Amino acid sequence: MKTAVIYHSQTGFTRKYAEWLSEAAGADCFDLAAAKKRSFDGYEAIVFGSWACAGGISKISWFKERAASWPEKTLIVFSTGGSPAESPEIAAFLRNQFSEEERGRIHAFYCPGGFCYEKMSAGSKLMMKMFRKMIGAKKEKTREEEEMLKMISHSYDLTDKKYLEPILALLKEQSAQAQ
Ligand SMILES: Cc1cc2nc3c(=O)[nH]c(=O)nc-3n(C[C@H](O)[C@H](O)[C@H](O)COP(=O)(O)O)c2cc1C
Repeated sequence: MKTAVIYHSQTGFTRKYAEWLSEAAGADCFDLAAAKKRSFDGYEAIVFGSWACAGGISKISWFKERAASWPEKTLIVFSTGGSPAESPEIAAFLRNQFSEEERGRIHAFYCPGGFCYEKMSAGSKLMMKMFRKMIGAKKEKTREEEEMLKMISHSYDLTDKKYLEPILALLKEQSAQAQ
């Protein structure tokens, strides 16, 4: 099944997953800027990877607009984020990105990324500073908030190829069905 992986990445975690996935699935890999300039006719599956930003997925609206004209293709979205894979909020986070109709045709996955303050834009650093200040100022923090505050006060990397296994299994399954 001819597959394209399109990614949008600021600090490199999503790019790393997109490259691992492309290599494992034998797919072509494009960053968003290149993807915007080309057609995906001829591809049977499109994977869009991007990063969680304040509860949303950065540039998901670009993907949704393009996906509207891809009714025949297998459509997969993965989001990276700073939260660990076990975080109880992940299921709701993924669910909230899509309407019921979209959920019926777009498969969504989460791959933990991390935080890389060294590569973050000035705007993102400022947003994170404000977020840390807001949580830090809370008088009664939940245990989750205490843990998150500790985690996001420095850079860390949670990436692991194992988080791509469900996506690879789905691509394999869809490819078998197409034959
Ligand atoms: C401004 C900002 C907002 C973020 N919001 C979230 C969020 O809502 N949930 C989450 O899990 N991670 C959040 N993150 C963490 C990023 O999603 C994470 O660092 C991601 O892996 C970055 O991917 P990239 O390296 O491909 O740019 C945020 C990061 C920044 C800079």
